[in-house]
Amino acid sequence: MSDINTDVLIIGTGPAGSATAALLSTYGVDNIAINRYRWLANSPRAHITNQRTMEVLRDLGRDVEDEVYMFAAGQDLMGENIFCESLAGEEIGRMKAWGNHPLSKAEHQMSSPTKMNDLPQTFMEPLLFKTACERGTQARMSTEYISHVQDADGVTTTCLDRLSGKEFTIRSKYLIGADGGKSLVAEHAGLPFEGKMAVGGSMNIHFRADLSKYVAHRPSVLYWVMQPGADVGGIGMGLVRMVRPWNEWLIVWGYDINGPAPEVTPEFATEVARQLIGDPTMEIDLIAANTWTVNNYHATQVSAGRVYCMGDAIHRHPPSNGLGSNTSIQDAFNLAWKLSMVLKGQAGEGLLDSYNAERAPIAKQIVTRANQSIADTGPIFSALGMDEGVSPEQMQKNLEARSEGTDAASAQRDAIRKAIAYKKYEFDAHGVEMNQRYRSDAVAPDGQIEPDFQLDADLHYQPTTWPGARLPHVWLYRSDNGAETSTLDLTGHGKFTLLTGLGGEAWADAAKQVGDELGIEIVTQVIGPRQTYVDHSGDWARISEIEDNGALLVRPDHHVAWRATRLSAAPAEELGRVMRQILDR
Ligand code: FDA
Repeated sequence: MSDINTDVLIIGTGPAGSATAALLSTYGVDNIAINRYRWLANSPRAHITNQRTMEVLRDLGRDVEDEVYMFAAGQDLMGENIFCESLAGEEIGRMKAWGNHPLSKAEHQMSSPTKMNDLPQTFMEPLLFKTACERGTQARMSTEYISHVQDADGVTTTCLDRLSGKEFTIRSKYLIGADGGKSLVAEHAGLPFEGKMAVGGSMNIHFRADLSKYVAHRPSVLYWVMQPGADVGGIGMGLVRMVRPWNEWLIVWGYDINGPAPEVTPEFATEVARQLIGDPTMEIDLIAANTWTVNNYHATQVSAGRVYCMGDAIHRHPPSNGLGSNTSIQDAFNLAWKLSMVLKGQAGEGLLDSYNAERAPIAKQIVTRANQSIADTGPIFSALGMDEGVSPEQMQKNLEARSEGTDAASAQRDAIRKAIAYKKYEFDAHGVEMNQRYRSDAVAPDGQIEPDFQLDADLHYQPTTWPGARLPHVWLYRSDNGAETSTLDLTGHGKFTLLTGLGGEAWADAAKQVGDELGIEIVTQVIGPRQTYVDHSGDWARISEIEDNGALLVRPDHHVAWRATRLSAAPAEELGRVMRQILDR
């Protein structure tokens, strides 16, 4: 007999665990979340919050979305990605980042009702955690996962109450390992991994200092400092990262992973900070300093039986591209509705297999992308004449050579420009953030071939309603008050939605009939003149890839489950077949 019972036990209250708890509680699923510490994030690690993540938060509620914008540094403060000798020293180059180039800005605006922003993890985690607890999650801090045993009906997890020192058990139907980059749950579940841990060493130096005079005229979240030694270990360059504009900062500096991790004393941390800022007298109010390792490691299978892992537990990679917390929250969005439907008896357990089929490839993709972005900094160092093995004196000479009037200097400037522009793959890779397409039994193909990407799939989002892709966003207008409403706002919230148009009313009837048969609600929206939502701009007609009397079935996580280009002879039969396949009924 276990001491405590619940439907879902979540280990960890980081972005992955807290997001899962918030979503499950929103869907009305009984859950407990535990954290071995008595605090939430104690350092502002993740910060870049992409549009896809914002769509998850918007799905949790406008109150949650609004709170992000209230505390985040807005997108307009993120954009001037600077490469320099030091903050006070010479600027080497820059590129507009994170959707701030006018062309990229247009793509962002056309892709989503949400805005990218910079929200430190010290704000994101409390917001998700608070939302979870308000909506029903039972949270236990100072409670450590020790081990688990699973059987045919559930999982018995042994925990340590760190206040009393006593062990106790929690019995749950499912266990979620959201316990971060050293996940014991993933290890105990025997998940297979590929890649390597500890491929580079980094240190974080978190401090307060008013750096307005060096940065306010070129607002950015990231200032990259190219100094001798900057390419050693870590993330490939020295980094001064804005935490709060412009008086709280995090420096990331590498160390050689082949040696022992350095002791980051206050004196050492202050010296590194002053060196990167380029101001030996700058007052540094040190908050914390620590070391961490860069990993290149992902699970090839992300679940085992009744145990599902997510977040850093299954994808471990450097912060390049800002994908860690974002992907963790998106893992949660993929799994939570499936657990909810299975636990409510609306779906068979086979639905949960699709979590593995859909998220394991994403884990591999983002780990590969983030590590490639580190490798992509090499050409900048080469162009500057700062390759490994060159003496610091020679590096300085090579760096200065770029300002000469010679052909060689002209070629050097060209190489620097090209190498910096290529960093778009790290700092403005909208496609990586938005193009996720799923292939699994929780998607029903419509017989059409997957559309090719017309532009670079890492850099540019390409909307499509091909089953498995995320539903494209366009603005529709409410007929009663004219309010702009995103297509994404018509869907989600833990429910399937069927979108159709005039002439497709039979699909709406079919959705009602199939929903009644299966005991679930399928929300329907008929889009068109004199309906609740009208496509005044014609954007929906242009992007939906179906005719007015066709249908799009959208999953609770905004991904298209299935589509019919036009009205079929037996809509209820067809929809019923598709829903049963997806729900494993
Ligand atoms: P996370 O590690 O955050 O949480 C794990 C949770 O499990 C914690 O609550 C922990 O206490 C708990 N836990 C662990 N073991 C336990 C046990 N045995 N029992 C009970 N509880 C246990 N990402 C991003 O999206 N954008 C960005 O800009 C950045 N930037 C960035 C900068 C820097 C410097 C770093 C180091 C990292 C980033 N990241 C990032 C990455 C991001 O921080 C990371 O991917 C997320 O925190 C992962 O979230 P998880 O919830 O998976 O794990």
